[in-house]
Amino acid sequence: MAGVTFDAATRVYPGSDTPAVADLDLQIEDGEFLVLVGPSGCGKSTSLRMLAGLEAVDDGRILVGDRDVTHVSPKDRDIAMVFQNYALYPHMSVGDNMGFALRISGVGTDEIARRVAEAAKILDLEPYLDRRPKSLSGGQRQRVAMGRAIVRRPRVFLMDEPLSNLDAKLRVQTRTEIAALQRRLGVTTVYVTHDQVEAMTMGDRVAVLKDGVLQQAGTPRELYDRPVNAFVAGFIGSPAMNLLEFGAEDGGVRFGGATVPVERSVLAAHPRLLLGVRPEDLEVGDRGLPVEVDVVEELGADAYVYGHAVLDGGPANVVARVRGRSLPAKGALLRVAPRPGSTHLFAVGDGARLG
Ligand SMILES: Nc1ncnc2c1ncn2[C@@H]1O[C@H](COP(=O)(O)OP(=O)(O)O)[C@@H](O)[C@H]1O
Ligand SMILES: [Mg+2]
Repeated sequence: MAGVTFDAATRVYPGSDTPAVADLDLQIEDGEFLVLVGPSGCGKSTSLRMLAGLEAVDDGRILVGDRDVTHVSPKDRDIAMVFQNYALYPHMSVGDNMGFALRISGVGTDEIARRVAEAAKILDLEPYLDRRPKSLSGGQRQRVAMGRAIVRRPRVFLMDEPLSNLDAKLRVQTRTEIAALQRRLGVTTVYVTHDQVEAMTMGDRVAVLKDGVLQQAGTPRELYDRPVNAFVAGFIGSPAMNLLEFGAEDGGVRFGGATVPVERSVLAAHPRLLLGVRPEDLEVGDRGLPVEVDVVEELGADAYVYGHAVLDGGPANVVARVRGRSLPAKGALLRVAPRPGSTHLFAVGDGARLG
């Protein structure tokens, strides 16, 4: 097995003047499960396809282990890819679908049978090996697609939104299965999704892309607790972090009747600031920012209150998590303030983290 290195890897599609992936630097450890996440069109599939050898690398390099594979053909990279549409052959049995790539590369019949049986066992597909794909459920087809990759015993697995054809419940179940399977097999895996919840629950580390540019790579905890910029702050977490723009005042920003302290040097350099606070870090109290309640989303043990406040820059939406059974009504006025030490500060404009 092997790790993967993107070394300033760049892809500019012909006819485009901006790179689909720009200067991507990313090191994926041997055995690691790395998730690439970002909005649609941010360059996730392009990055994965560059690693697979299905897309040219216009600048920079890609390594698998110590080996530079930038100009190596896809079939010689020792990588197996699971696509979004499983592309199973309808006229072949499940077993033949799983063994197909091995047959093409000249592996012996007994060895193919052994590896298919082993993968079928791991994936709970043993009773279905003689069936055609069309008689399987969506979840089972997804597992056949996984099986096809597993039998090849690659050094790296690539998965591009492999769960997007499944319904919501099956998606949650299958993501746990894939994560468990990956840990058991210990094969370095790069997994692409636009769903930040999927990214956060599955990845050892998560890399966030925006407009072809890597924003941050880190553990789910690091991304959640210390996002490097306002984009990552707003993208990771649901409901999203509140990002509220304030004018700097003496000693900090005035959050209604409360003050959030800010370092002097930051205040001096930034007349306006974006203050980030997660919904669970807002507390309801006597002081703080007045928020008029628009919607209350009850979750049982707690609830999310969606409301709006008026800041000096104009109206702003605010989400707060409140606990307990006595919930505010629509139209009620709450005062909320961040728990001390829970806030994030970003620059207005480029959104860079300031503290
Ligand atoms: N074959 C292609 N030719 C030209 N542009 C492409 C091609 N594939 C993708 N793109 C563009 O490159 C950017 C990144 O696409 P993609 O990697 O598919 O994003 P994602 O997988 O994150 O949704 C998008 O702007 C997309 O329109
Ligand atoms: Mg894609």
